[in-house]
Amino acid sequence: MILNTLCLKVNPVKPEADKITLAAAFIRKSELVAFPTETVYGLGALAFDPAAVKKIFLAKERPADKPLLVHISKLEQLAGLVKSIPADARLLMDRFWPGPLSIILPAREEVPAIVRGGKNTVGLRMPSHPVALALIEAAGPIAAPSANLFSRPSPISAEHVKADLDSRIAVILDAGTTGLGLESTIIDMSGMDYQILRRGGIPEEALREVLGVSLKFLNSSTKEKEILQKSRSLVLVCKDMNQLESSICEYEKTNKKVAVVHNNYSNQHINANVFREYQVDLDGISIEESHQQSLYSILRDAEEQGIDVLLFAPFPSNLSGTASAWLERIKNAAGMEI
Ligand code: TXA
Ligand code: MG
Repeated sequence: MILNTLCLKVNPVKPEADKITLAAAFIRKSELVAFPTETVYGLGALAFDPAAVKKIFLAKERPADKPLLVHISKLEQLAGLVKSIPADARLLMDRFWPGPLSIILPAREEVPAIVRGGKNTVGLRMPSHPVALALIEAAGPIAAPSANLFSRPSPISAEHVKADLDSRIAVILDAGTTGLGLESTIIDMSGMDYQILRRGGIPEEALREVLGVSLKFLNSSTKEKEILQKSRSLVLVCKDMNQLESSICEYEKTNKKVAVVHNNYSNQHINANVFREYQVDLDGISIEESHQQSLYSILRDAEEQGIDVLLFAPFPSNLSGTASAWLERIKNAAGMEI
């Protein structure tokens, strides 16, 4: 079905009540609303409305067995979603919520199976973005994945959402670019061993500090295979500067449009001409001005510029914190083992 997507500009700090009320009315009518969070834009439907949640899968072309995170605005909403809140989960909630941490716990049967992707667990997230919180407060718990077509880079602006989902969804709440530009960290606390399923906005070290236990990270052999963030440009990560420079020469000889992505750890100077140079700051992702250089923006910009090959300058070997989360996303885009 082709919809006339309504794009509403909303104040990111103090969202206008009438706009939130309007968006919440769409959500309650089983329509889809894209909204900003402090990580990336989400595509929301009422969590307890399976027919509406189904529309998310159709709009995104997302496989049905991939569960959705349920976004809440206050702890009381947990009672309808999970059977109990283990003490360790409560510690993390108290410390990191609202904020970019998603926690997986055993679900109540009342949580629609379509939200859980058929599993007996549910992923919970309390975002800190004022627009997200206001929308949830007005509508109730919202199931939301990132607001991109399946396997495309996550959107950090309303323009990105529009590029993927225009005429597929009812409303886009446009609050400008999102703060982190990197998704939430996901920790699975549904079993005895806690596992980090996805690195993201809250560094693993911070979780370990609060929990005082070692955390497992599922490596690619045991992890449910993360689908590649499809990019129309060929993405390559170079081992060293020599490889970077020889790759530039090689691709330019065949008339390919080449761009280089530097990072704050790499030697900036290259002895070659390329169509475009980007800069990604692996540590400074929350710096407001760095939005245009967010990895996801770079991937989308490179496509718009018709860049054939996107060469990433080398990374240091032992990155930690959010830098390691970024490296994971970059390797994913390059189709490398994580
Ligand atoms: O920052 C974020 O987390 C953004 C914003 C919009 O909140 N959301 C997001 O959602 O990235 P999504 O659906 O694009 O990624 C969530 C990941 C998916 O890979 C999904 O399979 C996994 O979380 N997930 C959700 N619920 C799960 C569950 N019960 N068990 C295992 N994995 C789960
Ligand atoms: Mg996603």
